[in-house]
Amino acid sequence: LRTILVGPPGAGKGTQAPRIRDEYCVCHLATGDMLREQVAQKTPLGVEAKKIMDAGGLVSDEIMVGMIKDQLETNSGCKNGFVLDGFPRTVVQAQKLDKMLEDRKEKLDNVVQLEIDDQLLISRITGRLIHPGSGRTYHKEFHPPKKPMTDDVSGEPLIQRSDDNVETLRKRLTTFHSQTGPVVGYYREKGLWHGLDAAQSPPVVWENLRKIFEKK
Ligand code: AP5
Ligand code: ZN
Repeated sequence: LRTILVGPPGAGKGTQAPRIRDEYCVCHLATGDMLREQVAQKTPLGVEAKKIMDAGGLVSDEIMVGMIKDQLETNSGCKNGFVLDGFPRTVVQAQKLDKMLEDRKEKLDNVVQLEIDDQLLISRITGRLIHPGSGRTYHKEFHPPKKPMTDDVSGEPLIQRSDDNVETLRKRLTTFHSQTGPVVGYYREKGLWHGLDAAQSPPVVWENLRKIFEKK
């Protein structure tokens, strides 16, 4: 399976992608997680990226395309396929991805847009908790950890992302509509696009994703 999840902040990309990874034995490439790793390690890229992420903007296409290329080439988990989460976010990224896959003689199976009203995303984003080590995601209200502020698996502390506040969310949404909106049109024209109602509960979203993937 080679698939892309497109959707605004809080649509459920990071919630669903690990299920896809486990069920279809593919790699989960999340560019936001990769950048947060650089931020945590305080690399020069991480220091620059943090400013952009906290402002709700986008890191350069060149850097992001390089990260994906590197993963596709070196991550053995990607042999069976991949689920892309947070990439491509611009038409240039989509075009570069096409070129990369062409060179690898691989084809995308589908692109799924997680569709949801902006209004519903505020509570999802402001209540989100993450485990920085694994990227595991919880929600204070909708998906609370067993022990408060503690990862169920490792027992390590959970944190809030520094871009998960209402002010930055507004900017991230504006960026999503202006820059990533056209990516949807790009894949519609190629006949790869599927829309999915992402306002439903995670198990229902998962069932509907499976239906799309089983339809060849
Ligand atoms: P990134 O990490 O990709 O952030 P994002 O796109 O804003 O998406 P989120 O991670 O916020 O949302 P999600 O859809 O994964 O939601 P989740 O499943 O966690 O990118 C961060 C930044 O990095 C960008 O702003 C940009 O600056 C930079 N960047 C990244 N990629 C880039 C690229 N390619 N080019 C340039 N720059 C790039 O769910 C959210 C919450 O809701 C959770 O708490 C969850 O438990 C809950 N939830 C999920 N589903 C449901 C449901 N069905 N019902 C109820 N609650 C739910
Ligand atoms: Zn995410």
